[in-house]
Formats: sequence, structure tokens, C-alpha cells
Amino acid sequence: MTEGSQDVFGYLDEKEAGYLEELKEYLRIPSVSTDPEYKDEVLRCSEFLLEKLRTAGLEAEAIETDGNPLIYAEWMKAEGKPTVLFYGHYDVQPADPIDEWRNPPFEPTEEGDLLVCRGATDDKGQSFTHVKAVEALLETRGELPVNVKFLVEGEEEIGGHGIEKFVIEDAGNRLACDAVVVSDTSLFAPGQPSLLYGLKGLAYMEIKVTGPNRDLHSGTFGGAVANPGNALSQIIAQLQDPKTGKILIPGFYDDALPLESWEREEFAKLPFDEAAYSADLGVGELFGEEGYSTLERAWGRPTCDVNGIYGGYQGEGAKTVIPAWAGAKVSMRLVPNQDPAKIAGLFSDYIKEIAPPGVEVEVSDLHGAEPVLVDIQGPIADAAMDAQEQVWGARPVRIREGGSIPIVATFSKILNVPVLLIGHGLPDDRLHAPNEKFNISHFYKGIRTIVRLLDEVGESA
Ligand code: BES
Ligand code: ZN
Repeated sequence: MTEGSQDVFGYLDEKEAGYLEELKEYLRIPSVSTDPEYKDEVLRCSEFLLEKLRTAGLEAEAIETDGNPLIYAEWMKAEGKPTVLFYGHYDVQPADPIDEWRNPPFEPTEEGDLLVCRGATDDKGQSFTHVKAVEALLETRGELPVNVKFLVEGEEEIGGHGIEKFVIEDAGNRLACDAVVVSDTSLFAPGQPSLLYGLKGLAYMEIKVTGPNRDLHSGTFGGAVANPGNALSQIIAQLQDPKTGKILIPGFYDDALPLESWEREEFAKLPFDEAAYSADLGVGELFGEEGYSTLERAWGRPTCDVNGIYGGYQGEGAKTVIPAWAGAKVSMRLVPNQDPAKIAGLFSDYIKEIAPPGVEVEVSDLHGAEPVLVDIQGPIADAAMDAQEQVWGARPVRIREGGSIPIVATFSKILNVPVLLIGHGLPDDRLHAPNEKFNISHFYKGIRTIVRLLDEVGESA
């Protein structure tokens, strides 16, 4: 009946340019969840999305949480057919460093096939493909091949717990479904789609080192007191072995699920060009844990990285001063079986143990996320791969990723259905960085992939 979704694809040929203009409106709302100054914009963004879901033909509502609202929507008229739950996030990362953007960060700008804007790929552009696929199906046929639900959150980028609480309390009632679909990741490479089966977890820590009760003249007092900047550097230097790249926190690797041999074999077969990868990143050579390839380190081994260091004189020229304090933010990316709370505890214990004399060291646990491996065997995952293959012209590869999407582990546990991580982005999308982009052709192909997926799931049932 659906003839490979051609009816809807024809409709999309006419409509997609207009959909792009709607995406631009969505992107113009600076829904930065990390910064309380943007609270009103985050709310405005949730209302925008709510309206778009209603216009698409769904019943939609905002659900209050302790933080930013969740947006829930559904269309449940395909009796006897499976239900697909779409997840996405409408919040975005801050734009800074602002000076490095070619255009204003919240003014979507077309540069050839690229749409450059904060949130373009992560995740507004990607999750908008879900909305527009459903809208195009309903406009063309007046019905959907399956039932659909949407749950879109506004605190993904800050590891907010509102959605987790909602999913746990709901316990699969309202959210009952046969599969969850997430588009917040990327293809493996241009033209090479992927279905992800693993995401890392996270333990995000802050270290604060305090010394004298005020900044001191570094000549008058140098040599007399411990310098918090020096002390912090000594601590950081003891996190990782400079030669082997191993993390030195005792017990850090104890629970880490080792990569299985089939995974190492499959990763090794992927077309991955180390030279092109280093050149793209502008580094002379790559570095990481001894004994593992770059993809194994990035996808399947736990890591520990400084995300920022602050303290002391940062202005122009030289100011001679011993800072009263210094600090660092450190993220540890975790693999399955590592528990974020336990790892945070090991980190704190170790930092306290190696803290140099003469300074106070305080460690706090800012937030965490659980690592996850999802099951991608079975008819629904096959339908997802078929849909991707038909749109991109290549069979998807099964891969893992180093990023985190905190709610995925909860979906997997509570809903107990396959979670399909179908990304439409590209590895060079610059998420979280200046000049974030989403290829316009990927926005269009993403919509088609979702249309095809829903048709495939409907036909398979
Ligand atoms: N879209 C990313 C997750 C991602 C990035 C998956 C790269 C695969 C590859 C998501 O929006 C994100 O950035 N998540 C945060 C979560 C954290 C704040 C708990 C992350 O990974 O840093
Ligand atoms: Zn992100």
C-alpha cells in the first residue's frame, strides 16, 4: 500500500524547503539550559515545540518537572499496530566562545549544504525530523502506519533528572511502546549510516583548591606558602600516566566491561582514516590508553579529562600574583558496568589522598549519567537498518559512541524495548563547539529515514 513510502516522499519534495524555514525559527530560540538567564527562552522554546506537534496533528501537552518542562505528544489511532516513542531534547549548549562563530550563534545561516547554528544538529535539527516525518505522513495519508508518542526534554545538556523521574514513575504506562527512537548522534561517515548500540556514561566532577585568604604578591610571599595553582596542577598531573595513557585512580577500571573480541574485530574493519582524523582535529599525533585503537578508546574504554581550569591571573600581560584559589572541572566517561556514583567516590578519595600539604581541597560531584549497551537484534532494529539503507544507499554499520544521552539507560531498563539510536548528523558537526552545523541534505534525508522506518515497522507488524 505504501509503495516504499513514495507517496510521502513526493509530498516532501514540495514541502521540505518550508520545513527548513520552520527549523530555522526553532533554532532562533536560544534555549540554553545551563544558564538561568535563558530560562524564559527555554520555556518559549518548549511552547514552540508544543505548537509544532499540534500542527503536525498530534495531541500534545507540557508536563511540569522540577526543572524545564517535558513535551509529550501522541497519535494512537493505528489500532493493533506497534507504538514508536520518539525521544529528543529541545535544550542546547551555550554558544561561547562567541567570537569564534562566523555568524551570530542563534541566527541559522545557510552555507551551501550547511545550516550553521547552535542546536542545528544537537538536537533540534535531528529531533525535528521526527515531527516533520509524522506531519508529512498525516498530511499525505490522513493516518500513520503505527502509533507514535513523543517525549522531548529541556535538560539533556545538563543531565537534569526531570525526565528520569517521569519515566520511572510512569513505569511504562503512558510511555508503553514497542521501540524508542532517538536521533541525537551521527552517521559513521558521509554516506555511511550507523545504528548505535552503545553510549558512554559520565561522572562530572569539580576540584576546588584554596590557599591563602587573599591573592598574594608572588615575590613577597613566593616560597612561603603553598600555591593553589601549583597544587591543582600536581593533582591533575596524577590523574593519567603520561606514557601509557592509563587513568591512575585506584579501582577506576575494576568494573569496566572489557571490549569483546567481535567488537574489536568489527571496529578494526571500519573505514577509519587516522591521518585524516588527526588532520581534521589539527593535531600532530593521537594519544590515548595503551593497547587500544582510537575507535576502541573513543567508544569502549573509560577516560578522564580536564574540561576547564580556572584561577589566578588570566588578563593581558603579566601580573605577579599567587592566587588565593584555583579549580578545575573534570569529566570521566564511563563504559558499561561502571557506576557513576561509585566512580565519583573513587575520584574524591584519590584526590583527597594526593592533595598536597598547605592547601584545602574540595571535590564535588556535579552530575552523572549511566553507560548503556542496547540490544539491536530483532525485527524492529532490522526495520530501522532497512530504512536507513534505503535512504542512504548503504547498509548501516553497528557501532558505539563516546557521548552520553542519560535517559537511554533508563528507557532501556524501565520500558524494556529496543532503543534505536538512529543519528542523521555527521562526525564533523561541531556539537558543543562554535559553528555547530547540520547538513541540510541530512535534515531532508533524516525525515525520509523516519518516514521509511515507520512504514517498515507498520508493515512488519
Ligand atoms: N548529542 C549528544 C550525545 C552524543 C554526542 C552522542 C556525540 C553521540 C556522540 C548529547 O546532546 C550530549 O551532548 N550529551 C551530553 C550529556 C551529558 C551532559 C550528561 C554529553 O555527552 O556530554
Ligand atoms: Zn549535546
